[in-house]
Amino acid sequence: MLRKINALLLAQGMDILLSDEFGEALVQTHHNVSTVASHTLGVAVVSLMICYLLMKLHIRTDTQRMTRAALCHDLGILGRDKKYRNNVQCCFRHPKDSVEVVRKLVVENDPALESAVVCHMWPLGPHLPKNREGIILSVADKISSCMEITGHCLGDSLIDQVIALREGKN
Ligand SMILES: [Fe+2]
Ligand SMILES: [Fe+2]
Repeated sequence: MLRKINALLLAQGMDILLSDEFGEALVQTHHNVSTVASHTLGVAVVSLMICYLLMKLHIRTDTQRMTRAALCHDLGILGRDKKYRNNVQCCFRHPKDSVEVVRKLVVENDPALESAVVCHMWPLGPHLPKNREGIILSVADKISSCMEITGHCLGDSLIDQVIALREGKN
């Protein structure tokens, strides 16, 4: 199952994974114990696991939207030390900045994807998720963050493959 999810993630997120922004994400630390890249990959894995679980219950989700939303949800946080005055400002502003990254990296206009990204901090942020992918992203973000601080980031296992893809080795 995890291999299938990882393969789907790499295929559906390829354009984002090869972007300059994701290159920056590979080197910016996140939650003191991870990088933005490992975190977003971990959130994408957990999100797609939830999508597969829901699929078994005949509840449909859009895995392409899910992958893109998860991979982009924190890319607005890149350069945080120069962009935000403090952690509170970062907490409230980075979801909107991540939407700007979505608009740059995702060719298709997808308001539901943007909504999922802008609402991902809920309940820390003020915006209640408005679609299934948004709810899943918000939940997966918290699950993945908890796993990271206990040393179990699911994104870590994908980092070598992403670096190889970026170097044109795959
Ligand atoms: Fe975030
Ligand atoms: Fe996050």
